[in-house]
Amino acid sequence: MKDAIAVWASVQSEFGEEFVLSASGGGTALRALLDEAGGAAEGDGVSPETRPAPVAVSRQNGSRTEGASSLVSRQNGDCAEAPASVLRYVSYSRELSGEGSEASGMAESRRSYDVVPPAPEASPTKKAALASLKEEMQAFNGCRLKEIATNTVFGDGNPEAAIMIIGEAPGADEDIQGLPFVGRSGQLLDRMLASIGFDRKSVYITNVVNWRPPGNRPPTPEEIEQCRPFLSRHIDIVAPKIIVLLGLTAMHSVLRIKSGLAKAREVWFHYTMSNGVKVKTMVTFHPSYLLRSPGQKVFAWKDLQRLRGEFDKDAFGATEPAK
Ligand code: URA
Repeated sequence: MKDAIAVWASVQSEFGEEFVLSASGGGTALRALLDEAGGAAEGDGVSPETRPAPVAVSRQNGSRTEGASSLVSRQNGDCAEAPASVLRYVSYSRELSGEGSEASGMAESRRSYDVVPPAPEASPTKKAALASLKEEMQAFNGCRLKEIATNTVFGDGNPEAAIMIIGEAPGADEDIQGLPFVGRSGQLLDRMLASIGFDRKSVYITNVVNWRPPGNRPPTPEEIEQCRPFLSRHIDIVAPKIIVLLGLTAMHSVLRIKSGLAKAREVWFHYTMSNGVKVKTMVTFHPSYLLRSPGQKVFAWKDLQRLRGEFDKDAFGATEPAK
């Protein structure tokens, strides 16, 4: 019980607001909720009876605990008072567990971020520069990965978007389709983006390495170096306002720092483009890691909120139309 409360408290501090997690299904349901929130709960959980009026936002916990219903409420138990951050977290965990579209007792508008409108169409100059970079990469013979790859996986999304997301390397699905993040981790990435109002029309996505490493092994430092000049030109052309690096490979390659992910996630970095302009850069978990470690999704949520907060702060949504 003590350990469960500790997790409870840490969830509380992640969102910086007073709220209570409880579960009508008793210890098992609470345990599942706490697992989802942080993965560290020990013991049998806390009986909801020990918590004040825990009826606010009910959540079918289909993915983790059959038949268990988890509840989220404020200390005062008033549904209308449940903080937006909690509602958004519930929405996020639903989204990520594939329950996102299900109707619930909550108004959608109260539990999700506003949808970010698609970025304007890219300028002909930008489109031409990207097409020419892609052609150059397709003709490049300096990386052995290309010899065994089906496709050069270049980029996807809107090159005019404020946010550029950089992953590691294509997997099997990406290799076949020639597009980044279209497999399982791509589907999770889409749901993560959706939880903060983005989709592929409002972001741009690429990878550190543009050809699939055999057996989905991580790219070697040599392969990363071979692709690096393309990546820096790619960033220069897209000229995003914010870069999001997914996982350690992207972080090491783009920022050239050796920090661990836990520390790096806490801060904003600056990536300097070749024209000297600095781009705000953040690091978060790679979705394939989150697929393997779903307990970390709550921390990814913190990162996503930080991303959306930065985006909103600078109103990048109102990007100038193409010239
Ligand atoms: N993982 C990546 O890093 N990139 C992809 O495109 C797909 C999976």
